[in-house]
Amino acid sequence: MTLRSKDLLGINEMTAEEITEILDTAEMMKRVLTSGNKKTSHLQGKSVITLFYENSTRTRLSFELASKYMGSASANISTSGSSVNKGESLLDTVRTIDMMATDIIIMRHNQSGAPHFIAPFLKASVVNAGDGMNEHPTQALLDMFTMRERFGTLEGLKVAICGDIYHSRVARSNTLGLTKLGAKVFLYGPPTMLPIGIKEMGCTVAKSLDEAVEGADAVMGLRVQLERQSKSLFPSVAEYSKYFSILPDTLARAKPTAIIMHPGPCNHGVELPTVVYESPQSLINEQVTNGVAVRMAVLYLLIARRNQQ
Ligand code: CP
Repeated sequence: MTLRSKDLLGINEMTAEEITEILDTAEMMKRVLTSGNKKTSHLQGKSVITLFYENSTRTRLSFELASKYMGSASANISTSGSSVNKGESLLDTVRTIDMMATDIIIMRHNQSGAPHFIAPFLKASVVNAGDGMNEHPTQALLDMFTMRERFGTLEGLKVAICGDIYHSRVARSNTLGLTKLGAKVFLYGPPTMLPIGIKEMGCTVAKSLDEAVEGADAVMGLRVQLERQSKSLFPSVAEYSKYFSILPDTLARAKPTAIIMHPGPCNHGVELPTVVYESPQSLINEQVTNGVAVRMAVLYLLIARRNQQ
């Protein structure tokens, strides 16, 4: 089986079978990544460009390392230092990249739907590396990979996702993906940070942090995205931390085998304290490693599909 689309735009567009194929392929890629020799020739003769209109450490670097480990020619563009700063439009920018015989364009953009807009104009495959408040599909894939690696399956798991749900493309992609693969998703956050209609994604909106975390297999904190707030959605960081931070007492309600996750970057002491971030239950650092394996799998499968055309 291969991916149905030339692009990876969102978990919303993917079937459970496609998600599973990426997770299965990522298992193989993780073995390569953690072996003494990370170099493969899967992308030899191919080109991968990262185009980031927003800041990133993990997503951008893991895609760049993934493409380099697999032997492709790769380069990156950001708004500073490119002709975007001279006013070049998004479409002209990506068409220019496309005309350089590029195989894959990995784009992060602050506008929801920007990757969906450009993809039909391009021969290159487009990978959504985060679009506004919409989706961050490869983050959800690496999160699902991390849970599946620990528990063997996602079917029947209780996953609590807590914090700034409203601005979180990570929460949206994870809710879509986890429910497609049979997990039960509980969301909890300040009422001002819960989007209207979120229940339609098949999750439960918990009335308290305790309800969300009770008996959970995985507890995921989300970064408070101050940069996306035009007005403050909670009285103060101190109060957010007091009422919404994932503290050890709260975690005691989860299963003894529960894992702690966070997509990063983390505001220590706000979403969760350092003692939770660093606890033996925390897989936050493992998520970073898994991000490279999952992005290797995504690049591999997209190129495999292109080779079949
Ligand atoms: N999780 C995540 O997307 O991190 P970056 O913004 O550092 O890429």
